[in-house]
Amino acid sequence: MITDTTSGNRGLLQAEPLIFETGHATGAGVDLPAPKGTPNKLGGLGRKAALDLPGLSEPETMRHFVRLSQRNYAIDLGLFPLGSCTMKHNPRLNERAARFEGFADLHPLQPTSTIQGALELMDELAHWLCTLTGMPAVALSPKAGAHGEMCGMLAIKAALAARGEGDKRKRVLVPSSAHGTNPATAAAAGFTVDEIPARDDGRVHLDDVKAKLGPDVAAIMITNPNTCGLFEPEIKNIADAIHSAGAYFYCDGANYNAIVGKVRPGDLGVDAMHINLHKTFSTPHGGGGPGAGPTVLSAALAPFAPVPHIVLRGETRELREHMAGTQAFGRMCAFHGQMGMFTRAGLHDEPRQRWPAASRRRCGAERQLSPRAPQAAFQRAVRRQALHARSAARRFIDQAEGRRDDRCRQGAAR
Ligand SMILES: Cc1ncc(COP(=O)(O)O)c(C=O)c1O
Repeated sequence: MITDTTSGNRGLLQAEPLIFETGHATGAGVDLPAPKGTPNKLGGLGRKAALDLPGLSEPETMRHFVRLSQRNYAIDLGLFPLGSCTMKHNPRLNERAARFEGFADLHPLQPTSTIQGALELMDELAHWLCTLTGMPAVALSPKAGAHGEMCGMLAIKAALAARGEGDKRKRVLVPSSAHGTNPATAAAAGFTVDEIPARDDGRVHLDDVKAKLGPDVAAIMITNPNTCGLFEPEIKNIADAIHSAGAYFYCDGANYNAIVGKVRPGDLGVDAMHINLHKTFSTPHGGGGPGAGPTVLSAALAPFAPVPHIVLRGETRELREHMAGTQAFGRMCAFHGQMGMFTRAGLHDEPRQRWPAASRRRCGAERQLSPRAPQAAFQRAVRRQALHARSAARRFIDQAEGRRDDRCRQGAAR
């Protein structure tokens, strides 16, 4: 509800005219006289007429841009149709804790004896990611979801090479409904992309996968729950078929938010899956800022995980570049990953354990697990209207913005 203010100035609800509409040619804040005794070196190319720029005084200019900056749209202000990253709680408490100097002011080259708390936090986060997903290993260092995809695909590539099939298995199956990063990652990792066409129900079908299988298939990349917001009911059978054909199953875990604590990807036959900490855990997204894409790996891929490894020796944690019995494919970044994101995601407490269920209920994601989910119908309706998802999302924001502007006009009229 909008309450009256004395001035009618609504702060965030202001309609700000263009600077060209408010400025006037004679209104420049500072106009210095031409310097005397300094010859012009432009050789007659100097501007003769005035610049056609809006002239405003310094405070007018400053206030114009500050007012514009306050129109920044954020999840704290209204609906943000960016997907799973907005369906969760980002406690301010975690922001505070992430700024503790013991976490925020670390340097990645500090001696490990001085960063034991940070390593313990990372190790504990790794433990929880493995426990929740039912997977034996995790690489924390990928810096975003797409970077995690690259990590998983490079582990698959290394595993195939170790089997002597690196040159033979080059094809990666990707459903047409996949997020654009999936085919891009497969191609960037040196594979060719073979698309599984979409069906009207928005799901990947076992028959369609089987029809594509062959001795040259390296992997399949499936998002689950998928981009239509639907849990793939044939996922286990698809994983079995992929494994029988000697290939690996990469699961895009960007939508893991909807099933965390309910289903363990390890039990579904997943070999590699990135977890966007900024989508599933209390690490902010949707307002900008970095992400993090830790990637869990199955027993088959764990030996190829990138370095560094965190190893507990007695009471001390170490960062290791080499570990006996492993064949790391390399490293994902210069250091250890996004410490600030680990801190925000890794600070577990009992109430936080409960947010996924509460958040799922609030956003209706429980229904995503039902075979009669309404999302597919919505997708079909959008397709009938020949709308792209991006235009639909834009429209949602425009409507929210429109309502804001209406309220602004009402405020100004008072
Ligand atoms: C399904 C899916 N996969 C991958 C990604 C890539 O994640 P990131 O933006 O963290 O690189 C996204 C991000 O929106 C996504 O929705």
